[in-house]
Amino acid sequence: MKIERFDSKEELYARAVAIMVEAKHNGATTFGLATGGTMEPLYAKICKTDIDFSNCISFNLDEYVGLQANHEQSYAYYMHKHLFHEKPFLASYLPNGLAADPLEEAARYEALLQQHSLDFQLLGIGQNGHIGFNEPGTAFDSLTHLVTLEESTRQANARFFSSIDEVPTQAFTMGIQSIMRAKCILLMAVGETKREVLERVLASDYTENIPASVLSKHPNVMILTDLQVEEN
Ligand code: F6R
Repeated sequence: MKIERFDSKEELYARAVAIMVEAKHNGATTFGLATGGTMEPLYAKICKTDIDFSNCISFNLDEYVGLQANHEQSYAYYMHKHLFHEKPFLASYLPNGLAADPLEEAARYEALLQQHSLDFQLLGIGQNGHIGFNEPGTAFDSLTHLVTLEESTRQANARFFSSIDEVPTQAFTMGIQSIMRAKCILLMAVGETKREVLERVLASDYTENIPASVLSKHPNVMILTDLQVEEN
């Protein structure tokens, strides 16, 4: 894993945009995308560039179960609001959080992913080390699946809802193996709330207790952070 540290968020996000532009320039056409607070400034900056994704395909990491696509907190809505309205892709896929049969939906999404190998995957990180919604303890060989969100993840995401009771309890997520198949991964750990987990990831062994620690085995991972953390 390579890590780049920045003194300002402005520089960090400029670098993230440059990395995505370069990936596209070098031929990437299939992008794995993330949501959450970390990605909002990135997508805002991307919208101001002339990058063109109209020949590209996107796959989102995850989606809540039970929210309509037009619900303001669904990830389908988030992606349209922050990126797709300005930068449409040829095709954009997210898990269907309203699918009647969760097992079938997870298998459908995983099959789509396997048909289009990801050239580039964007990742944020949860304070508990999750990537996508793969909570601590998720098997490193997991594929797309239905998860019950940890209480700490629901608490962390409650800031986007009017109350914690409205935060869904379940979500679909790409599995860890699905994520690890991407050719290149960019993880962004931004803000003080990510210090402890980033230190744990950098110091830890390869352990399913810290899902992001799996990235140490990936040949092409870049971490961008505004935290002055030590690397082991
Ligand atoms: C979102 C996702 C999550 C977030 C993580 C950090 O699609 O997969 O893993 O990246 O929860 O969220 P923020 O950026 O809101 O701190």
